Amino acid sequence: MRDFAEIERVVITHGPTALEFAPRLSATLNCNLYFKRDDCTGLAGGGNKTRKLEYLIAAALKSGADTLVTIGGLQSNHARQSAAAAAKFGLGCELVLEDVANTPKADFYSNGNILLDQLLGANIHRLGVDEDPQSYCENLMDKLQVQGKKPYFIPVGGSNVIGSLGYVRCAMEIVQQIEQQQLSIDQIVIATGSAGTQAGLLAGLIACGSSIKVLGISVSKTTEQQAELVTQLLRSVLTYLHLDPGLAEGVVHTDGNYYGASYGVATEPMIEAVKRCASLEGVLLDPVYTGKAMAGLIDLSDKGLIAENSNQLFLHTGGSQGLFAYREVF
Ligand SMILES: Cc1ncc(COP(=O)(O)O)c(C=O)c1O
Repeated sequence: MRDFAEIERVVITHGPTALEFAPRLSATLNCNLYFKRDDCTGLAGGGNKTRKLEYLIAAALKSGADTLVTIGGLQSNHARQSAAAAAKFGLGCELVLEDVANTPKADFYSNGNILLDQLLGANIHRLGVDEDPQSYCENLMDKLQVQGKKPYFIPVGGSNVIGSLGYVRCAMEIVQQIEQQQLSIDQIVIATGSAGTQAGLLAGLIACGSSIKVLGISVSKTTEQQAELVTQLLRSVLTYLHLDPGLAEGVVHTDGNYYGASYGVATEPMIEAVKRCASLEGVLLDPVYTGKAMAGLIDLSDKGLIAENSNQLFLHTGGSQGLFAYREVF
């Protein structure tokens, strides 16, 4: 395997993030639930993109870039953390943000992540639901170059091989914490969207020789579509790490039963999951990712599809800033 510590990164994350037991929530489930608190990574509210940005910013700085360009939904947590990282490293930040159909609208355009993006100094390009963000970004990159800028493009969710390295590192951190706390974890449960978190985690677990299962609850795609997305990226990450891409075979587990009508659209079980975690553990989930993933975990537990008395680790990937955009549904 490639020498992982040698790969360039900037240090942003407040870590290791805590790995803690959730006793009151566990009492409502058929298993013991632990949280890995990546909602507390320290960058403008935290979340999973902080770890990805450590590698992406290092690559951007190495390329001589002076501006980050990235893409996401209007309430993207990735966009907020990219804007914060750009501010921290003195880079410009252009956010191309798509509207999301069938979301509550009273606060969607002015509160939550979008308010924070503005405070963090990002330049926002707001696109309608039918516009093509990819071609908009290509034009924007050209325009910035003509203006003499050096833009660096970060794909949606920071989910390319470089960004995923943040979760390779997180997997190594988890394996170490489990050892230190003398825990045995049966499964890690996460929300999966652009796939970098799950692909990185799996690559990191493989690199550590760990066989802990990772279940990705999809926020936008069917079980099969999401598994395909994660598998492709995992193969690329393994190749980058000089590991056998064939090790991706059979390790990708996804569940597409909990995102509801579509990405970003509230579901009743999500609302119940957000309220349950808040009232029992003082932990704030989010309406688009972790709320739906927790709703999935609760349902699987209720149906007896989680092994009785097993130890489940919920990787809290952040996003509670998005709650303010969804006030009406709560
Ligand atoms: C809070 C939160 N959780 C989970 C995810 C999903 O991570 P990934 O896109 O790496 O699959 C995101 C992505 O934007 C997120 O903002």
